[in-house]
This record gives sequence, C-alpha cells and structure tokens, in this order.
Amino acid sequence: MCACSSPLSAVLAVTLLLLSSVDANAVVELKNHHKKCDLYDGSWVFDKSYPLYDVEKCPLILQQFSCMRNGRPDRRYQKYRWQPKNCNLPRWDGREFGRRVRGKRIMFVGDSIGLNQWESLGCMIRAAYPRAPYSSAKTALLSTILFPKLNITLMYMRNARRHDIATEKAAKVLKLNSVAASANQWLHADILIFNTWHWWLHTGT
Ligand SMILES: *[C@@H]1O[C@H](CO)[C@@H](O)[C@H](O)[C@H]1NC(C)=O
Repeated sequence: MCACSSPLSAVLAVTLLLLSSVDANAVVELKNHHKKCDLYDGSWVFDKSYPLYDVEKCPLILQQFSCMRNGRPDRRYQKYRWQPKNCNLPRWDGREFGRRVRGKRIMFVGDSIGLNQWESLGCMIRAAYPRAPYSSAKTALLSTILFPKLNITLMYMRNARRHDIATEKAAKVLKLNSVAASANQWLHADILIFNTWHWWLHTGT
C-alpha cells in the first residue's frame, strides 16, 4: 500500500505526541495553543534543514519502504516539514524526546502507515543517540525495537482494523463496538498511536 518511507508523517505524529502526552506543561501549552491554532490547518513547507535522519544509513528501514534503495533519484521530497497556519511547532529534538520517554513503551497499532512511523521513530532516536545500542525483533504480529541503555521500547503491532471480528453463521462479522480481543495486547504500552488508513481503502469489509 505505501511503497515509500514516510518520515514526514512520523515527524508530525511524534511532535504532537511529544507535545501532548508526556509533559504536563506541554499539555497546557498545547491546550492554550489550541484556542488560537488548529494544528491540523496548515501546509507542508520546504525546509533545507531536513530530513531528521539519513534513510540510506538507517538499517531499521525495510527495503520496501526505502525509496532510495529502490532507485528513486531525487531527494528534495524529504525536505518538507509541517507548518500550521497560526503557530509554530517546535523542531523535533531527539535528545529531549529520549529524556521524556525514558522507561516508556511506545506502541504503534495499525497497518503499514504505523509500520512506517515505527521504523522512522527508531531511526530518529538512532540519529539523536548514534552510539546507543539497540536491537530489533519481529514476530508475525509484534515487532520491537529496544534501546536498552535509553530504556526505550518501540513496538509495532500489525492490526489493520482493531475491532473484533467474530464468525457468525459462517460469515466474518466486524464488531464495531468492541476492541476487547486486540486491546489485551495494548495494555502494557505507556503510549499508544493508532492509524486508520485501511478503513478508508475498502468497501464491504
Ligand atoms: C526501565 O524503565 C522501567 C519502567 O519505568 C523501569 O521499571 C526499569 O527499572 C527501567 N530499567 C532500567 C535498566 O533503567
């Protein structure tokens, strides 16, 4: 579905995450901001100080998500950042982020958009702490990047719809009012990030 790496959306998601979920002062700041500034009303602007990490040097990016490794010749598309119309977002600061999420388990739940964001966040942390050891492991449903010295765990759980699916009268039924079966697997995360891309692709599912 998404053939290319999308560090841009990860930057936005994680900047918002950094602003909104970890630090109490930042929450107040964001709430105040919110009155004047719709963070979602804005545009992508060219900024030559980006990208935040070198995709070609980050082994966490899967082959299928690396545009360059698959032959894309231009680089300019990486140099965009999100600019809300009525305020400025702070630039991502990997060290600051690392301090704030130390000891935390961050889990992305969703389809390949979440997979892109999980890989990108791993690369962003790596770029901020180039000497910090890390390991990554994959099972069918859960992938994990662990930075043991930083004590940061990034998880990606493949789960495109999240809602429970029951089999009734030999048909699969999507239970829109229930996420219980999947939610058990999220309970041990400190920060959860969902995406809904697949909901917008299909009809009749
Ligand atoms: C990592 O963080 C967890 C959760 O805050 C904590 O219980 C644990 O002691 C930490 N481990 C290290 C090695 O600092």
